[in-house]
Amino acid sequence: MNHQVQIAGVLLLLAMAGCSRHAAEAKPPTPADPSASVPAAPEVATAEAPLSYELRLGRETFQHYCKICHGEMGAGDGFNAFNLDPHPRDLSDPAFQKAKTDGELKDAVRRGGAGVGLSPLMPPWGRTLSAAQVDEVILYIRSFKKTGP
Ligand code: HEC
Repeated sequence: MNHQVQIAGVLLLLAMAGCSRHAAEAKPPTPADPSASVPAAPEVATAEAPLSYELRLGRETFQHYCKICHGEMGAGDGFNAFNLDPHPRDLSDPAFQKAKTDGELKDAVRRGGAGVGLSPLMPPWGRTLSAAQVDEVILYIRSFKKTGP
């Protein structure tokens, strides 16, 4: 009797192990999605209309230098944002977008927070990015208003 209970227990454990292994195996492969047969462009952040060339360059720059603090879509939720006081604001906020001219945004990017009376934790990028790259990244930040909340 005791023996039977033990065997039942072992069988149950085996079944559970089998199940969880199954679940783990079943997860990684992409779901059977008809669009999956078309090799998707890697790392496309938005599932929207294709971005212009300049916007794609701006996205490159943003993802390389800015995303870490500002977050993928500019919401101020980057990996490093918790570390920053004040936090980066939500760049996709329509009110913010409206309140700032391109010139002001470019100035903040080039000269950094300290250069324009904001937090010095926003670094200056004027020596890192070319004028064209600053233009592109602002263009990309401007595109956030369409996808933002
Ligand atoms: C180390 C973190 C960090 C990185 C990296 C960073 N920023 Fe910032 N940024 C900040 C913080 C913090 C603020 C908020 C400053 C404040 O409100 O006082 C800010 C503010 C801004 C603002 C808003 C200024 C305003 O008018 O309120 C813009 C635009 C901006 N960043 C663009 C960029 C761009 C473009 C990049 C990449 C080239 C970038 N940031 C990289 C931390 C960062």
